[in-house]
Amino acid sequence: MKPLLFLHGITLTFGGLSVIDNLDIQVRKGSRCGLIGPNGAGKTTIFNLLSGVYRATAGEILLDDEPIDDVPLDRRIDLGIGRTFQNLRLMKHLTVLENIMLGQHRLVGSWARILAPLGGRWNRAWRDEAMEVAETLGLRDDVDRLAQGLSYGVQKRIEIARALVGRPRLLLLDEPAAGLNSSEREELVTVLASSLPRDTTVLIVEHDTGFVRTLCDHTVALNFGRKIAEGDPASVCGHPLVVEAYLGKDEPIYRNRPQPALSNEAAFQRNDNAA
Ligand SMILES: Nc1ncnc2c1ncn2[C@@H]1O[C@H](COP(=O)(O)OP(=O)(O)O)[C@@H](O)[C@H]1O
Ligand SMILES: [Mg+2]
Repeated sequence: MKPLLFLHGITLTFGGLSVIDNLDIQVRKGSRCGLIGPNGAGKTTIFNLLSGVYRATAGEILLDDEPIDDVPLDRRIDLGIGRTFQNLRLMKHLTVLENIMLGQHRLVGSWARILAPLGGRWNRAWRDEAMEVAETLGLRDDVDRLAQGLSYGVQKRIEIARALVGRPRLLLLDEPAAGLNSSEREELVTVLASSLPRDTTVLIVEHDTGFVRTLCDHTVALNFGRKIAEGDPASVCGHPLVVEAYLGKDEPIYRNRPQPALSNEAAFQRNDNAA
């Protein structure tokens, strides 16, 4: 099937240092594509290239066959690119529902119209849609509470809901499960599996291999800004170069044991803890 997203020969350098190096990635329409790799591999940088924070030094990014490199940061959302951030970016003094509705500004046209008193019929439709998304993400009981003080897991889900109400064609989730405990992770993966619209193409940065295997149909692994493996999630997570990238060749626990004795889950967990 035709790719929705095509990164073609993308290179990004900062002061002569190459952060992304001649990278090719294709993501087909409707795919849930995992993007994995150790800290500093360039995953968030790719999100920043896609959302227009950075411009590639070389190469081309195509969205549905259209080059987007010249589209400025504030217009990328109009292309249907939505994202969440590795570190939470919520308006803590607004309610959960208001935070979610901020994600509708591309569709509604102005922030003030979204946040005007919720009485008119026109406003009610947007509110209802935001409520629906809140519900699918398990936030129904929290909608009237201030974002401030809510648990980290709930705040992460608000971010995802805010991105989803913008009806993105391409949704970028940057470490949605980071900082969550294991039951929160399980809950999130279940919620995402059922709430992500089928026609939304999703690129997910995540260290948790269980998460990637459950949610993704395709995975790309990076190290030092280069692609080191690509394919189905299980084989990419178990690929020797990927295991080595996460553990390091000289890791003592790894050196003294036969390779299969240390599971990939453990490897990724170690990396998470060190971050
Ligand atoms: N604005 C910048 N200036 C210089 N180096 C940067 C900049 N943004 C990212 N980098 C570097 O790019 C590399 C990849 O970073 P990042 O994409 O955040 O990694 P991760 O895979 O952990 O998300 C890191 O070495 C980081 O220091
Ligand atoms: Mg990152």
